[in-house]
Amino acid sequence: MEKVAARPIEAAVDFLGKISKQEIPVAAIVLGSGVKVLEGLEDEKTVSYQEVFGIAPGVIGHSGAVSLGRVNGRLIAVLRGRFHLYEGHAWEVVTLPSRTMVEWGVPHLYLTNAAGGLNANFNVGDLMLLTGFRDHLHPKYQDSGLLPALKHPPTACTNSLSEHILQVSRKLAAANSVFRPLQTGVYAGLLGPNYETLSEIDMLKSLGADAVGMSTVPEIEVCKGSGTTPAAISVITNVWKPEELVGGHEEVLHAAKQASERLDLLFHACIESGK
Ligand code: HPA
Repeated sequence: MEKVAARPIEAAVDFLGKISKQEIPVAAIVLGSGVKVLEGLEDEKTVSYQEVFGIAPGVIGHSGAVSLGRVNGRLIAVLRGRFHLYEGHAWEVVTLPSRTMVEWGVPHLYLTNAAGGLNANFNVGDLMLLTGFRDHLHPKYQDSGLLPALKHPPTACTNSLSEHILQVSRKLAAANSVFRPLQTGVYAGLLGPNYETLSEIDMLKSLGADAVGMSTVPEIEVCKGSGTTPAAISVITNVWKPEELVGGHEEVLHAAKQASERLDLLFHACIESGK
């Protein structure tokens, strides 16, 4: 596939700053495959990825729009879609939306993704928060070529936003029976585009992974050492069982849509309570 050149980050920040009249959002939320949350925001203004970044996402289930709008009066940015390494994009392109949020000075970055469940206690539709300092495994992403050029050195993340999400989710679960408490665990980010073989699933389990997907890791990495604190939530769209292969992208989109209602409640509560 032809490689697409990334638009300069400064141009994307400038474009969004003009729309928000130079107000910096309190949080940005990146939506993974089929995740539909934070729709119909107050004072919502929507622009396409093409206009902001010069490229549109090519995967079904990713609408490719940036919405700027308010929850309880607080400005947020919702990034509806992402670019993947498996589409043939360079790391620079994959991290374009998240680096734009970092350079804009957005303090909190919520990342979502669709993932396959490896932990035997997980069910389809569960939400899994990546746990603080043990958040992911990424066997194939180490040699990205971009790390030396990163503005912020890749130091450890703080897990303060993850803790905030956990606390908010516990309160929601206590007050609302629709809201099942969050699972927590380790996400393995693989390159894709194929789903794993059963042998790879065994390998990932033995390495300590609780869920597997094809995104999010680069976006967490670019926040390290910056003023943006990331946290990531996986929607468990399928659960790997011994000797059973999983379905395709359709099944993933369906399960993500089902879980979106709870995720929407969670995000509203997190933003309303200060982050
Ligand atoms: N593997 C990798 N990526 C995924 C999966 C999976 O099982 N489910 C949703 N995205």
